[in-house]
Amino acid sequence: MNYLYDFDIPELEKIHRGKVRDSFRVNDKQRLIVVSDRISAFDSNLKNPIPSKGAVLNGIANWWFENTRHITDNHVIKMIGTNAMLVKEAVPIRVEMVVRGYICGSVWRGYEQGERTFSGAKVPNNLTRNAAFPQPILTPTTKEKNDRPITPDEIVAEGWTTAELYKKMSEKALALYDFGSKVMAERGYILVDTKYEFGLLDGKLILIDEIHTPDSSRFWSAKDYEKAPAKAAQIDKEFVRQWMLANKTTDGNLPNTLSNEVVAEAILRYQHIYETLTGESLKWDENGDALQQLRRELKKEGII
Ligand SMILES: Nc1ncnc2c1ncn2[C@@H]1O[C@H](COP(=O)(O)OP(=O)(O)O)[C@@H](O)[C@H]1O
Ligand SMILES: [Mg+2]
Repeated sequence: MNYLYDFDIPELEKIHRGKVRDSFRVNDKQRLIVVSDRISAFDSNLKNPIPSKGAVLNGIANWWFENTRHITDNHVIKMIGTNAMLVKEAVPIRVEMVVRGYICGSVWRGYEQGERTFSGAKVPNNLTRNAAFPQPILTPTTKEKNDRPITPDEIVAEGWTTAELYKKMSEKALALYDFGSKVMAERGYILVDTKYEFGLLDGKLILIDEIHTPDSSRFWSAKDYEKAPAKAAQIDKEFVRQWMLANKTTDGNLPNTLSNEVVAEAILRYQHIYETLTGESLKWDENGDALQQLRRELKKEGII
């Protein structure tokens, strides 16, 4: 099977190995972001790749970057094959701009404990699990070893960015979320929450990193949500998590390897999301060699 899991590009310096993506230095002004087929669940990286997941995530991010240019400039220079993107090197603002339309995850856990303010955003009483907020809220976190919720005032006071830039970032983040949720709704999905990162390029604010992918966002099925809001779950990953919980190892730990059936199901789900969203079928050669394909494209572009 064709997949990208652990790999190097000896001609390029690897500057960052994330859970799912690897970043390489191309030159002062450009970096290469390669999306692998790694998957993480419950905060740990699983041992099996999900073949084509990287192509799906990279394709989805590219699609959104292209379709949100009316809202913000971004870092994309061009796609390199299916799994990689050549981007402009920006000075990153070390804040994750999290936008939430619905109460779930960590915010729901805090809410159950009585919290009503999240990163400075006040939320009403009487919300039920997975309910929509009256309007989307911004709950920024800092990008540190452990992400830390932070209020807009603290962001400025601690010098993460200026008040003026923060204001721009919040306007852009909310506008992106608004546009993203409308587009997803037309395709039967709910964009539950997501996060954006921004950077400065020659002093100008641009969107960097990734946008509206299942790794940076929660997607629910609108149909499932209508049927049972409290049970709505992430369409790409929840069944992986459920399988892991149901298949603990003999010492009671979560497995770090998935069954072939779960991998096959995950492939189908990711490809389905890609196709529903972009309206195109995924270009992916099951019998190809993702790394060789990437190297060919990089040579064609004169990058290696
Ligand atoms: N255009 C860009 N310029 C500079 N840094 C970027 C750009 N795009 C993304 N980044 C940074 O690259 C890193 C990518 O890491 P990521 O793949 O998300 O791994 P992790 O699992 O550590 O979050 C992030 O720190 C992000 O801010
Ligand atoms: Mg990241």
